[in-house]
Amino acid sequence: MKKTGYDYLFKPINFKGLRLKNRITMAPLYLGYAAEGGKISPLLLEHYKLMAQSGAAMIVVENSSITPAGSGSPRTIRCDHNRYINGLANIARTIKDQKCRAALQINHAGRFAYTPDPVSASDIPAFNRSPRPLLKKEITKIQKQFANSALRVKKAGFDLVELHGGTGYLLSQFVSPRTNKREDRYGGSIENRIRFPLEVLKRVKDLVGDFPVGYRFLADEWLPDGLKLKESVVFARELAKNGVAYISVMGGTYESFFLPDIIKKSRKPGYMVFLANAIKKEVKIPVIAAGRISTPARAEAILKDKKADLIGLARMLWVDPQWVNKTRQGRDKSIIKCNPKCDACMQLVMKGRPAICPKWTKEKRRAYKDKT
Ligand SMILES: Cc1cc2nc3c(=O)[nH]c(=O)nc-3n(C[C@H](O)[C@H](O)[C@H](O)COP(=O)(O)O)c2cc1C
Repeated sequence: MKKTGYDYLFKPINFKGLRLKNRITMAPLYLGYAAEGGKISPLLLEHYKLMAQSGAAMIVVENSSITPAGSGSPRTIRCDHNRYINGLANIARTIKDQKCRAALQINHAGRFAYTPDPVSASDIPAFNRSPRPLLKKEITKIQKQFANSALRVKKAGFDLVELHGGTGYLLSQFVSPRTNKREDRYGGSIENRIRFPLEVLKRVKDLVGDFPVGYRFLADEWLPDGLKLKESVVFARELAKNGVAYISVMGGTYESFFLPDIIKKSRKPGYMVFLANAIKKEVKIPVIAAGRISTPARAEAILKDKKADLIGLARMLWVDPQWVNKTRQGRDKSIIKCNPKCDACMQLVMKGRPAICPKWTKEKRRAYKDKT
């Protein structure tokens, strides 16, 4: 095979008994391809087959809900009951058949949930709705729901489960000083605010045994009164100490994503790499960097400079599912790039519609429209 010059990108990595064939992973990307009720649709399976055929070493499947009350949307995948295991097994098999590792992200959306009665750490309103602060017994119930869902992920045949501590969802609502105003042992100091996700992790690990558990990690909320790196590094150290398989770093929440300064920042190539770099300095487990890593050269430099151990591609891989194969074959100049000024995918999914990329050919766009 032609030498690519991307030795770091194509170097395998081992962790928690798993071998990844290279350093490229798909970061979770909800595109609204499941059917109503979170049912596993032919389009969803087709999508993940394509992503797994990309040559990436691991696909982290989009967020799935641990309880209907914590679901992000009507098309969010479900893992809150054993009846969903068969459908989830179809996704795992589809990905693994392509010699690619499969992970599923599990989530409770908390104050952003698609429900008339959202819950959170405290009653800080989100988009004009005030969530109800969770009672202690409800906290325990949700922790058990995370654990039971993780066990279903294992039973469905995935290689790993990822806890969604990003995007400002429930796990991070406890960690944030902005959304957690509790006066009990789950609120106040950073040590108290990280108690809830650490207890979730413990319950998950106690139930799934040696099954690897990754963590999507909110390093900075990018809000004046929000969580900042200074505190999140404390949490990263504890996650590593408590046995997570990797930390996948991101910044921002639904309350900061659409602020003019943040929109500007997030159009820049590699806009979240500095956060991954800061976390990597604190831990000895693999760290995933994501965020407009649009070229193999950039990805290679991130690894070479030890800013991260793994690359997470979300929209970058969806826009061009041949990103990895083209790189390996030395055809990286032909990679189709996501337009930083376009947020069509986000706009469509926020309207409850399946995502279609303007960069695709007319035929591909039409084919996706026909299937949704
Ligand atoms: C439409 C859309 C859906 C997303 N869904 C998820 C998700 O389900 N879970 C998650 O952790 N991150 C999610 N993300 C964040 C991505 O994983 C990733 O961090 C971000 O898009 C930056 O990477 P990229 O520039 O390669 O897309 C989503 C992002 C977008 C734009």
